Amino acid sequence: MPTPTPAALARCIAKVAQALAAPSLQAEAATALSRLVARDDWLPAAYAQPHADYYQQYLLHADPAGCFSIVSFVWGPGQATPIHDHGVWGIVGQLRGAEASQRFAADGHAPPTPIGAPHILRPGDIDVIGPDVGDVHQVSNAHAGVSVSIHLYGTDIGRHQRHVYPATGGRKPFISGYVNGPDTPPFSA
Ligand SMILES: [Fe+2]
Repeated sequence: MPTPTPAALARCIAKVAQALAAPSLQAEAATALSRLVARDDWLPAAYAQPHADYYQQYLLHADPAGCFSIVSFVWGPGQATPIHDHGVWGIVGQLRGAEASQRFAADGHAPPTPIGAPHILRPGDIDVIGPDVGDVHQVSNAHAGVSVSIHLYGTDIGRHQRHVYPATGGRKPFISGYVNGPDTPPFSA
């Protein structure tokens, strides 16, 4: 029997779907995500399980038309992403713990160079990423325990072709996928 969609997640999905029809898409979507991460009482534990070696991405919901997706990122102590891009707009909301986002300048040839200091996200904080505002970053757990953030992207991000940027320069194609198993099916709207 499918897991019922948590009410807070259902409200966020409905608001984002509604916002997609409006010109103020990102602002409305950011508000919906901000409300979702304002309280840490709705994410089922199965979607917040860390892995000993890798950060985890659980798909919580994918819009059937592929217009957006909502993902929980779960970080064990010391875990970090490679330097990567997205190719679409995205909004990150911190639910639990803390994470650091370091932006980079990367042209796909020269080694990526950091821009400014890392942005530390704490519970309730949101950050915007994407081609219009800075699309290349590296995210790491900034908390001694497990951290969880909820990400909203303007596509089905786990199936979207994008890039990682090795420290030595160049870039490589990257499709992140999801870690959902039989006990963590994505939620419907
Ligand atoms: Fe990212």
